[in-house]
Amino acid sequence: MAKAKPVARRLAGLITRDGPVSVARFMEIALGDTDGGYYAARDPFGAAGDFTTAPEISQMFGELIGAWCADTWQRIGAPDPFALIEFGPGRGTLMVDALRALKALPACRDAAHVRLIETSTVLCAVQRKALHDQDATWYNSLPPADGIPAIIIANEFLDALPIRQFVKSEGAWRERCVDIDPQGDGFRFTLGTGVPQTPHAPELLAAAFDGDIMEESPAIVSLVGDIAARIAVTGGAALFIDYGHARSAVGDTLQAVQRHKPVNPLDSPGAADLTAHVDFQRVREAAAAGGARCWGPIDQGSFLTQIGIRERATQLRAAADTHQTSDINAALTRLIGPAEMGTLFKILALSEPRLEQLAGFEYGADHDA
Ligand SMILES: C[S@@+](CC[C@H](N)C(=O)[O-])C[C@H]1O[C@@H](n2cnc3c(N)ncnc32)[C@H](O)[C@@H]1O
Repeated sequence: MAKAKPVARRLAGLITRDGPVSVARFMEIALGDTDGGYYAARDPFGAAGDFTTAPEISQMFGELIGAWCADTWQRIGAPDPFALIEFGPGRGTLMVDALRALKALPACRDAAHVRLIETSTVLCAVQRKALHDQDATWYNSLPPADGIPAIIIANEFLDALPIRQFVKSEGAWRERCVDIDPQGDGFRFTLGTGVPQTPHAPELLAAAFDGDIMEESPAIVSLVGDIAARIAVTGGAALFIDYGHARSAVGDTLQAVQRHKPVNPLDSPGAADLTAHVDFQRVREAAAAGGARCWGPIDQGSFLTQIGIRERATQLRAAADTHQTSDINAALTRLIGPAEMGTLFKILALSEPRLEQLAGFEYGADHDA
């Protein structure tokens, strides 16, 4: 690997020294390595980057999430102060739009202590610029509760956390690992030695066929458990928005994207975005174990429609020229259209257990769509 990039060299060195690494370790290094990891080294958003997220499509997305936060703040008793926390804020666009919407309820805006959780120094700098006129504090993991309730948002964050994969092979489950490809210059999948602890899904495991893959993200389970426990004790709510499936299932969802196109997940560690679909059933289980009430998941299209995206689009169109009107219409279709992000993306909320209603979840708590 003479000409390999730093991340590929580091992975190759690790594998040569210790043997194949788990898919989770591969993802962790490819995405987070401080020397050339995917997020550490770049701003990947937009047409010139690798992908576009909902807040980058339209201001309506962040504004509606802000309105949801303000509504939730009232439902939890209008605490002052409270922590408004965003995980993985990207370019800071969602938070800028949300804070603008929060101004409609000045007491809520005044009570909010904005906390951003970001590990990428490049994106931290972009966020600081976007939020230059706001009082905000940055962390690289969930900050201490300090006894105050929290409203937490995370858009396309859970999908960036590492997953482990398990393959059924000759009737037994083995961990899927990554090795150096002896035939070439890169990496290949292999099976780990030993008997791994598989996810707790007895029926799915038993019904699986040889070659089937099961996934589990210990990082998601642990983070959601911590957030749920915090909300159960100090109060508040959390909103997770991501692509994924409502129920656990077998299947390989590891994917890589570079310049808006799918690429082989092992081909360019550090240069391609690596993600996996979120297993919302596991998220619900982790949240329930942490003591929080769960809402959803429901489709992004239903959620945004219930909290007023069509009405917001109508307001914006009233002051728009023809070109802007067509942009608003296109953004609306992209965000809520069933063939676009409307059904692929799901929303799951957690709240303190006593909460009886939460905006956007018309079916109530503990009900998945
Ligand atoms: C796909 S981007 C989503 C950005 C933003 N939420 C949006 O919707 O535009 C993932 C974000 O999570 C950050 N990130 C990834 N892994 C992280 C981790 N372990 N801890 C904190 N932030 C992380 C990335 O740097 C990036 O800001």
